[in-house]
Amino acid sequence: MDRFLTADDLAKTLRRDVREGLENDPKTLPPKWFYDERGSELFEEITRLEEYYPTRREREILAARAPEIAAATGARTLLELGAGSGEKTRLLLDALRGTLRAYVPVDVSGDFLEGAAARIAAEHPALDVHPVVADYEQHLHLLPGGERRLVAFLGGTIGNMAPAGRIGFLSGLRAAMGPDDALLLGADLVKDERRLVAAYDDAAGVTAEFNRNVLRVINRELDADFAPGAYEHTAVWNASEEWIEMRLRSTRSQTVRVGGLDLEVAFAAGEEMRTEISAKFRRERLASELEAAGLALAEFWTDAAGDFSLSLARPGAA
Ligand code: SAH
Ligand code: AVI
Repeated sequence: MDRFLTADDLAKTLRRDVREGLENDPKTLPPKWFYDERGSELFEEITRLEEYYPTRREREILAARAPEIAAATGARTLLELGAGSGEKTRLLLDALRGTLRAYVPVDVSGDFLEGAAARIAAEHPALDVHPVVADYEQHLHLLPGGERRLVAFLGGTIGNMAPAGRIGFLSGLRAAMGPDDALLLGADLVKDERRLVAAYDDAAGVTAEFNRNVLRVINRELDADFAPGAYEHTAVWNASEEWIEMRLRSTRSQTVRVGGLDLEVAFAAGEEMRTEISAKFRRERLASELEAAGLALAEFWTDAAGDFSLSLARPGAA
């Protein structure tokens, strides 16, 4: 397993992000820090919830379109950003059996990635499975090269970046792509507000635990004393931005000490801290963001209900 992100880099970035985020007004934390091993497991649990439709819908599209994707790309390397368990990716790996030589899953959640990659390697003994612990916002230029690479960014994770971050990310990705590479991008679509909010505020409270996990990560890594039980999970649809916001609301007035940063932070009763945005898209916005980054939309598929999308894009103008 390659590590472009050492424990030292992670610690440094976490320190910077937490200091900046807690000094912001309103306070924010970046979603990257949900994902220690427990956070990755909680996300997997979310994907199985009745209310959380994106994973099922994206799997439906992949099941229908994987042969077309294989024929259109003839990929030799599948590079997957934010791979997580790689569970849906199996559909692509199967369809690409004829041409695929290497699978490179990339994730910040190192231990979880190692286990997931080992399971996939055992199922595909002829495939070179090469996991990489890296931050796709920093390390795209370091990822393995080669001919006919298919870069998969699934799950709607692109929506966890703010619009300006998406343009920077897509431009960086375009710069790292060769002329015969392709991008397979999963993106959730705008829909009825009630369904969106339910997907991010499930009845069993799994998403709430996932949200609070960021506090546990900061407690452990930065010697902080957040009381996770003193923060309520909320999910709100921001109609003008077309994104879901997850927040943690302080249930009382409290002061948190972050020992590793020598920082004390006061929360007022009812104060909300944003921990994630999850943007929802329309086809036109996806096409124009891709185009702005020098990527042309070649295919745009949705599931039968029109809930989720999968786009195939290639370097070049539309
Ligand atoms: N692709 C999977 C998992 C999505 S969850 C699916 O579709 O189900 C988002 C994944 O991205 C997590 O595994 C998380 O650890 C990873 N991730 C989040 N921010 C990242 C970053 N900046 N760089 C690399 N991986 C990241
Ligand atoms: C990883 N990402 C696409 C998920 C999403 O839907 O935005 C993370 C998530 N947050 C809450 N539930 C799931």
